[in-house]
Amino acid sequence: MPSVSRSTDPRINVIGTGYLGATHAVCMAELGFDVIGVDIDADRIRRLSGGEVPFYEPGLEALLRKNLEAGRLTFSGSLAEAVDQADVHFICVGTPQRHDSGAADLRHVDAAVSGLIAAGLGPADLVVGKSTVPTGTATRLAAKLAAGAPGAELAWSPEFLREGFAVDDTLRPDRLVFGVAPGGTAERRLRTIYARTIDDGTPVVVTDHTTAELVKVAANAFLATKISFINAMAEVCEAAGGDVVELASALAHDARIGHRFLQAGIGFGGGCLPKDIRAFQARADELGVGRALAFLSEVDAVNARALTRAVALAREALGGSPTNRVVGALGAAFKPNSDDIRDSPALAVAETLRRAGAHVSVYDPAAVVNARACYPNLRFTDSVVSAVAGAEVVLLLTEWHEFRELDPAVLRPHVARPVVIDGRGALDPGRWRAAGWTYRALGRPQR
Ligand code: UDX
Repeated sequence: MPSVSRSTDPRINVIGTGYLGATHAVCMAELGFDVIGVDIDADRIRRLSGGEVPFYEPGLEALLRKNLEAGRLTFSGSLAEAVDQADVHFICVGTPQRHDSGAADLRHVDAAVSGLIAAGLGPADLVVGKSTVPTGTATRLAAKLAAGAPGAELAWSPEFLREGFAVDDTLRPDRLVFGVAPGGTAERRLRTIYARTIDDGTPVVVTDHTTAELVKVAANAFLATKISFINAMAEVCEAAGGDVVELASALAHDARIGHRFLQAGIGFGGGCLPKDIRAFQARADELGVGRALAFLSEVDAVNARALTRAVALAREALGGSPTNRVVGALGAAFKPNSDDIRDSPALAVAETLRRAGAHVSVYDPAAVVNARACYPNLRFTDSVVSAVAGAEVVLLLTEWHEFRELDPAVLRPHVARPVVIDGRGALDPGRWRAAGWTYRALGRPQR
């Protein structure tokens, strides 16, 4: 049960109400605080105020409504109103990749800090950065605050939430990282805000601004590297005749390696891993240590090759040329339990085949609306059966539960040729083969 907010409790402002900010605002209210969420996107504010989450995130809408009804949570387009009401200001705005380089575009973060100062940030206010930023940003912003709002403090506390598990990751994170300047009040105040989470056993790492910024990009670089490692092993398996799924399962028994993020397939996408590894490299170059992160270019290249290999497998299954061939694609989101299509490998594969002349029909349980807006030339359907109708090859591109559970025998009469390419290593080959399908997957032998 959330505690009842007292007059001495921190009053919280969350700037930016995207995946990170909307979830953070709702979860802070769920922890019992009075929260105001601010965004420059009026439509987003209207929808959130009306109890509607503008993106797909399991569990979030129920908590949003509960906390709106409890009167702990409001949304506004006015930063001045938020500065008036709150004393702790979380920055949760996006840091997309710049158009002209791999570096991060920090204009929204800078605008948030300038906006706070212009709105009259007081000497007792705390600003907490959660956006993923290149290291050095917090030091620069702290100087900006010192000049524009003397006395106000800055902390950097990166967020590690995964889409699809955002609520749970926010309320029960693996760890909290507090990047604080020495001698200030930020650590004590952050410990007050997260008291319940800390009492539940969540470890806290208190460090400086720079290290806190690095923790986030290092974590994402590690995860991307782990995925590309297993995809590189899939390439070797394809050449040597091994099976990457069995290889991964054997590796995973070594507790030092573990089983997570060893799922070979069409690779990583989304709004974080691809842009974060590029921004990390760009920053390392600026710092004169580009060589230390040179391997991340290879991580990116392995990831790009995973797409090419999946397309090649589809071409092979179609006897060489995709022109005028019918392809059924299952999945559009960059991962299951999300409607996010940013850098989605699934759509990259579908679009490449379409450009090569194939008639590609795509079904996704949540991402069709977003996908259609960006890929107007793909055909989108509202069911698995209509996506695979008459298909000469079926591609599994996002491992939604609904697709994992498909009955290959039931699906078979709907396709022209029973050939499935498992782009996520998510299907049971024995089951599909027993139902008369030709099963192909990246890094797995054609038995
Ligand atoms: C990631 C980080 O996990 C999270 O901590 C950070 O805050 C934001 O970036 P997210 O983008 O939600 O989260 O997705 P994640 O679950 O990490 O998956 C990223 C991509 O890797 C997806 O496209 C997924 O399909 C792919 N992936 C993941 C694999 O290809 N193989 C795996 O074994 C795991």
